[in-house]
Amino acid sequence: MYKSNNVVYCNNIGNSEVVIRYPQNGDVEAMLKYINAISKEKTYITWQGEEISLKHEQKYLKNQLKRIGEKETVQLLLFVNGELSGISAIDLGERIKCHIGVFGITIAQIYRGRGFGKLLMKLTLEEASKNLMKLKIVTLEVFAENEKAIKMYKDFGFIEYGKLPKGNLYKGKLVDDTQMYKNIKVN
Ligand SMILES: CC(C)(COP(=O)(O)OP(=O)(O)OC[C@H]1O[C@@H](n2cnc3c(N)ncnc32)[C@H](O)[C@@H]1OP(=O)(O)O)[C@@H](O)C(=O)NCCC(=O)NCCS
Repeated sequence: MYKSNNVVYCNNIGNSEVVIRYPQNGDVEAMLKYINAISKEKTYITWQGEEISLKHEQKYLKNQLKRIGEKETVQLLLFVNGELSGISAIDLGERIKCHIGVFGITIAQIYRGRGFGKLLMKLTLEEASKNLMKLKIVTLEVFAENEKAIKMYKDFGFIEYGKLPKGNLYKGKLVDDTQMYKNIKVN
């Protein structure tokens, strides 16, 4: 059973206290601040400057907590010195896609390139393998020009299986979207 305040990692890295845990009800404001900062940045994610409302985030978190409890989602929050600095998730699909988990990850701009993405991704994949009983394949979509992320995904064993030309509207231009997968369980 999912426990609130479920910590999966706690360590000091350099001078920083790093905690990685599942979300809980009280996280909504930190999550809202985090996602709005990333949206404003217009990086390689779905949000491109839109302002996300508290109401939207409350609804999103409520649904995530429900799905985590039902073992349909794994979501981990990275805190560096108490501040929310990264989020990663794997969400199972429904019906004919119930064995497929869709992966997503972001790290706060100031903490990128320090190994946090790799750490968070490793733990999210491990938690998903342990907790999402139906999971067999993890898929993801990534901007084709996001070489840094693609390198990380390949290092984790993800394989490119497709590319949708002009699949994303990014900064006024249509750019390609790369699709990748990783097998978790063979049968
Ligand atoms: C992509 C992202 C999650 C990676 O997290 P990160 O903390 O920056 O990455 P890490 O420092 O853990 O590095 C992980 C790997 O990424 C790659 N990487 C990181 N920095 C890189 C760079 N400057 N150039 C090339 N590859 C790089 C490397 O493969 C690295 O592994 P290595 O150190 O063993 O070579 C993060 O940069 C991010 O949130 N970017 C913006 C949003 C985004 O692109 N999300 C992914 C959407 S699909």
